[in-house]
Order: sequence, then C-alpha cells, then structure tokens
Amino acid sequence: MKLCVALDLPSAGENLALLELLKDKDLWVKVGLRSFIRDGALFLEQIKAINPLFRIFLDLKLYDIPNTMGDSIEEIAKLKVSMITIHASSGQEAMREVMQRLKAVPNPPLVMAVTALTSFDEKGFFEIYHTGLETQVLEFAKTAKECGLNGVVCSCAESQTIKEQVGADFLTLTPAIRPFGENSGDQKRVATLEDAKTARSDFIVVGRPIYKAQNPKAVVEQILKEM
Ligand code: C5P
Repeated sequence: MKLCVALDLPSAGENLALLELLKDKDLWVKVGLRSFIRDGALFLEQIKAINPLFRIFLDLKLYDIPNTMGDSIEEIAKLKVSMITIHASSGQEAMREVMQRLKAVPNPPLVMAVTALTSFDEKGFFEIYHTGLETQVLEFAKTAKECGLNGVVCSCAESQTIKEQVGADFLTLTPAIRPFGENSGDQKRVATLEDAKTARSDFIVVGRPIYKAQNPKAVVEQILKEM
C-alpha cells in the first residue's frame, strides 16, 4: 500500500511548505484540479525540486469525447507524472483511445478510472446513474480493465470485491480515508486505515486529516508506520 497526500491547500506556497515538512518520506503526492488550474506545470516542477523521488498523481478526472481525451492525455504525458485519472463513465471508446495514445509514450503514467466519487451516497448516485452504486462500480471496474486501464478509484467498500472479481493485480485507489476515524467532512463513503488494509487498497489518498492537523508530519509518520 502507498500513501498519497492530497495537496489541496489554498496556495502553492502552503502546499510546498507542507511537502518541505514531508520531504524525507516515501510518498505519492496528489495534485488536483484546484492546484493545477492555479499553479500549472510549474507546480509539478517545484514538487520535484523538493524531492525528485516524490511520485506525482495528477488527478484531473478527464471526461470528454474520445478525441479530446486522447489529445489531452498526450499533453499530460509530457508532464512526466506517474498516475492520472479519467472517468469510467466517459465510456469504452474514450478509455481505449487514451490507452492507445499512451502506447507511444515511454514510461507512461498509470491510468486509473474514476468509478463513483466518494462524495456520492447511494441516493445521490442513483439520481444520476439510475442504478445501484456497488453494482455499477463493479461494472465500471470490469470495463476499465477490458479497456486496458491499470486500475480504478473507488471506496474501500468496493475495493475488496473488485480485487476478488476483477483481479488482484488490478489496482485500487481509495480516497476518503480517515486514517484514525477523523471528521469525514463532505465525504460520504469514508474508511479507516484498517478498512483500507482489509480492502487490499493499493493507494490511499489522504487530504484534510494530514494538512489540517496540528502536526502533519506526525500524522504521516503514524500512517506510514501503521500501513
Ligand atoms: O480531504 P480528503 O482526504 O477528503 O481529500 C480527498 C481527496 O481525494 C480530494 O482531493 C478529492 O478531490 C479526491 N478524490 C475523492 N474522491 C474521489 C476521487 C478523488 O475524494 N472519488
């Protein structure tokens, strides 16, 4: 299991200061929409300058027509990040196009399909997809695997079933982790570190429980120890 720290603070300076505190740790760092829109490719360079071994997960959750997704992925590949996300609901054609375009790229990033956002509960998910959340997440995972993706973003509640039914080597990345039972905020399908272990999650994403803590370094050390 790998720890991915979400860099969701309000400025590049604050995110980089957080990473300075964590620079000697074996970490993945998640750059989301907010940071990337505001701070762009330069921010990725600044992360690497703090520790070149930090692996960058660029979480842009692409959703568009296949050609636009393919064009975008070619641009993203130039940023030399280690993992990216696209929406499974963008469809098979779009997912295949993305993987096809990456064939020409040396050391391509891992591509993960977002299934159901962890801020959805059953009711909110049904309003949009008109089907059960767990069933649909599993379907998304199967389709993403068929399209050649490396794994999915899901909650811990779905990770174990995906491992059993889609394949142990198909990666799961689980956000909404409240390692030691911290406040869930807007997240609905939260899980603890123990849940993530049981669910055989490959990557856990932790944001607020780290960057809002009095002592973020101590929280990260505790998570790494218990992982
Ligand atoms: O602060 P918190 O630990 O809830 O942050 C979770 C991070 O994971 C956020 O950056 C959020 O955008 C991201 N994420 C998520 N649910 C998904 C995919 C990504 O919460 N399904």
